[in-house]
Parts: sequence; C-alpha cells; structure tokens
Amino acid sequence: MSVLKNFGLDAAWKWREKLCVSQQSEAYRVFYGPGEGAGDSRFFAIDRFADHYWITEWEGGGGTREEFKRHLIRFLKSQGAQSIVGLNRPEKGVAPESIAWEGVPPVGKIKIMEFGIPFWIQLTQTRHPGLFLDHAPLRAWLKAQMKGLRVLNTFSYTGSLSIAAGIGGASHVTTLDLSKTAIDWAKENWTLNQLAEDSGRFITGDVFDWLVRMKRQNETFDCIVLDPPSFSHGKKGNFSTLKDLEKLHGLAMDLLSSDGFLITSINSANIARKKYESDVFTAAKKRGMKFQIVRQIDLPETFPTELGEESDRYLKGWILRRLS
Ligand SMILES: C[S@@+](CC[C@H](N)C(=O)[O-])C[C@H]1O[C@@H](n2cnc3c(N)ncnc32)[C@H](O)[C@@H]1O
Repeated sequence: MSVLKNFGLDAAWKWREKLCVSQQSEAYRVFYGPGEGAGDSRFFAIDRFADHYWITEWEGGGGTREEFKRHLIRFLKSQGAQSIVGLNRPEKGVAPESIAWEGVPPVGKIKIMEFGIPFWIQLTQTRHPGLFLDHAPLRAWLKAQMKGLRVLNTFSYTGSLSIAAGIGGASHVTTLDLSKTAIDWAKENWTLNQLAEDSGRFITGDVFDWLVRMKRQNETFDCIVLDPPSFSHGKKGNFSTLKDLEKLHGLAMDLLSSDGFLITSINSANIARKKYESDVFTAAKKRGMKFQIVRQIDLPETFPTELGEESDRYLKGWILRRLS
C-alpha cells in the first residue's frame, strides 16, 4: 500500500499500542495529522473516547480529502468504532457543532476513563468533547503531586485538572472559569469522582476580577494553574496571550505561597517559547520572586510533530516552583 493510500493511520495506531496508551486509557489522540499524516491526512486529527471517535478537520490541502475521510471511516470501523463525529475548524470564526459521520453517536454526556479517572465527555451538540487530551501528562503529574495542597485552577473549562488534583489528595481545590456551562460540567466531574463537597469551590467568573479579589482577601494557594486561551472577551475586558501574559502571571504570583507551584500553559502556536518565558520572568522579577523549572510542558508522545515544524507544537508551558 502506498503512503498516500494508508495516509499514516496504520503507523499511528501501532505507535499508540507501543506506547501502551490504548491498553491503559479509553481517551487519547489516535492520530495527529500535522505530525503523522501524509497528503491530505495532515489536516485531520482523531481522538478516541472508548469506541467513539471525534475527528477535527482543519482547512487546507488538495483533492484527496474525501478519499482520506472514506479511508478513515473504513479504518476506524475495522478497529471496532461504534460512532464517528467530525468538527470542522475554520481558520477564522467559530466552528459549527460536531456532526455525525458514521453510526449513531451517544446523546448527552457519557463516562470515559482516562488512565483510571472517570470524566464526563460529550460528542454531539458541542464544539469540544470536554477533555483536552494533550493535558493527560499534566493530569498525571497533579494526581501524583498535590497531596495536602490548596489548589487554584483558573481557566478551568470542565475542571479536569481540578479533578486530577482532587484525586491526588489536594486539601482544597478552587475551580474558576468564565463559562457557567463549563463550571457546571466541572462540578459534575467532581461528583462523578466522589470528591468531598467541602473540599471543592466552583466559581463562575473572570480570572482578572477574581485574582484581584482573592488578593484583597489575603487568599493564598500552594498551586495555581493558568491555562488561558489565546484570546478571550471577559467581563474585565479582552485578554490576549500576545499582550497580557505578564499581567496575568503577576496577578497569580501575588497569591502564591512560598514554595508554591505555578503551572502555566498556553495553546498558542504564534507565541515563541522565548517571549512567553520572558513575560513570566518579568512578572516574577517585578515581585522579587524566583522560580525553578520543575518540568517543561510540551505536546505528549501521542501528538508527534516533525522536526523543524515549530508551528505544529502549539502547546507550551512549565510547571514552576517558587523559590523561597
Ligand atoms: C483552553 S480552555 C482551558 C482548558 C483547561 N485548563 C483544561 O485543561 O481542560 C480555556 C478556558 O478559559 C475560559 N476563559 C476564557 N477567558 C476567561 C476569563 N477571562 N476568566 C475565566 N475563564 C476564562 C474559557 O471559558 C475556557 O473554558
């Protein structure tokens, strides 16, 4: 079979088996086209949720897109797929909701196990299934390291990082997001994991408002997670990773206990690591704080990229520890 005919799917499937991801988790990226694809398969990604699949389709490519889609459906069905949904991601503007490509996808939320932790995910009537699979290593780290700590998870979305911290034994977790839908989902994930009601606080609100409020109330945290989107329109004005990283990190540093962890992650291909590091460093310097890099956050092995193609490596960040 030529490279173009199999589009890289067989190799990608075998790689997940070799990584043992497929044996340990129901949720993982099966195929990251920009790094693993051949021909038009480079414009697709495949995420697995048990025997249901979520396809992300980006703009671009030539005349073999439809051929690839047919191949993809055949391939996933041969691996036991029950349903496949697709989401079209336009370069500009908001994506429409996912649509069924094959089978009858489940309606409403379904429970999925990711490395032993259950999460609610949703495949239809949504633009995102509710679990960012590229953060699986960060969830594993939080599960291992948060015992006894007070955690603040900002830009929480459905709270998966809060859940990992809670499962890891955090003494208290505050989960904060602008979207009420996301916070309600995060609460459902907290309950699903049987985490104690009084060890979780859920806030629907603007990070830029709440970080200032928390400082006024002398609140401190042993671990703060910042995972902002590239742009947002919050109640306190607009945020952009290009302009506002220093301000955001400064506000979080004001709440960090000595020896505390600051976890920072962005999903912005257009920001170089150097500029990002310099913004975080400036915020720390202005406060006379020093940080140690505990770990660099990068795309995991299930999101392979080609050497020299930095723009495909959109995820970047660090787990930092404040030096007292
Ligand atoms: C990239 S997602 C975060 C993913 C999350 N950390 C995870 O691992 O699942 C960004 C989230 O930031 C939220 N958001 C955007 N602007 C915000 C703001 N100003 N204050 C609070 N949350 C905001 C969005 O509602 C969205 O849920």
